[in-house]
Amino acid sequence: MKISDLAASVSESATMKFNERANQLRAEGKPVVHLGIGEPKNRAPETALAASSDKLQDGYIKYTPAAGLPSLRRAIADYTTELYGREVPPTNVIASNGSKHALFNVLMAIVNPGDKVLMPVPYWVTYPEMVKLVRGVPSFVQPEPGSLVPDVDSVIKAVDDNTAAILLNSPNNPSGMVVGGAFLEKLVGFCEQRDVYLIMDDIYRDLVFDGGEAPSAYRYTSKDLDSSHVIVIHGVSKLYGMTGFRLGWSIAPELVTSAINRLQGQMTSNASVISQAAAEGALSGDQNVVEELRLHLQANRDRLLDELADLEGLKVERPQGGLYSFPDFTAFNPDSLALSEFLLEKALVVTVPGVEFGMEGYIRLGFAGSAEDVVEGARRIKWALDPGQPTEIRMGDQVVTRDWN
Ligand SMILES: Cc1ncc(COP(=O)(O)O)c(C=O)c1O
Repeated sequence: MKISDLAASVSESATMKFNERANQLRAEGKPVVHLGIGEPKNRAPETALAASSDKLQDGYIKYTPAAGLPSLRRAIADYTTELYGREVPPTNVIASNGSKHALFNVLMAIVNPGDKVLMPVPYWVTYPEMVKLVRGVPSFVQPEPGSLVPDVDSVIKAVDDNTAAILLNSPNNPSGMVVGGAFLEKLVGFCEQRDVYLIMDDIYRDLVFDGGEAPSAYRYTSKDLDSSHVIVIHGVSKLYGMTGFRLGWSIAPELVTSAINRLQGQMTSNASVISQAAAEGALSGDQNVVEELRLHLQANRDRLLDELADLEGLKVERPQGGLYSFPDFTAFNPDSLALSEFLLEKALVVTVPGVEFGMEGYIRLGFAGSAEDVVEGARRIKWALDPGQPTEIRMGDQVVTRDWN
């Protein structure tokens, strides 16, 4: 039996391996704490639940246009117009099965075999795999040493005639860093001049801390939407903690949008109408739910960093938004996979090794879970790595003794 070269070229995510091992340990009665989580733990907004259950009660669960219900596309356009300060017509919006799917559609629509897609390091684990799936070439821009964001000039310098797009995520998964206005202004101008698309993965844009904001790339284009090279990806997964509904969207120039519409029409057709109704309910409901989520995440980030503050050797850049922090653990072990394995086996804490995101020596710690888990996870990491901590620690109803230095 054979599988295609394309399928064989796609890596399995290391997080799956960690999740499997964590489940095994849990089944053995071990009190595992999960800091690998990439989703908020809140209940979906009531307006989303009501709208999807109304749709179910209606009983007519049928195809919609491939691009999504006109009323949902309108709600997404209104949300964007209001929050990005840029008039967006519904005709430039396509609703898909999660923003992962929306991004995949965009790449399919704009990347030819062999084209480069540039992404800053650290990057979301899925980006390089997605680019490979459309037969493009992922290409990486390293940050300055000791920093988590590359200089805009390094990004610009990495563009060549084969570059189809630059892919940015701000706030970033895994670093929590936000790309500033001056960076974006220069990059938008450059992309429009060089005929390179700038894909903004805005999935965490409403979850920014300390009164800050993630500037929108739209602010820096003087062109109309159809001639601008800015493409926006967003969705309800992180914004409202609605990951399981699988509803995301792209906003792109008309040429790209109609290509996506044709591709999606042939591949999946519309996203589930129940999820479309839920997304519309969330977008047109009370937006305080987003603020509550944002405050919960901000407080959890503070708890995590406070707990880790006295771990000597750890270098942390304070996340400006999103669900994760990405400290430099090189002083403890430069091999992030080995260190994540060690933390799971010895401290019963699930983390994600930085090598997955293109940065060795770092580890991603998620703070989207409960306050208790975040504090407990950090307490255990400190205990496992700091020989100055007491030899014994209580984990759940077990007392564990450190037998290493
Ligand atoms: C940076 C980034 N983009 C996109 C996604 C995908 O989100 P969705 O659930 O909408 O497919 C994720 C999910 O973790 C993410 O971290």
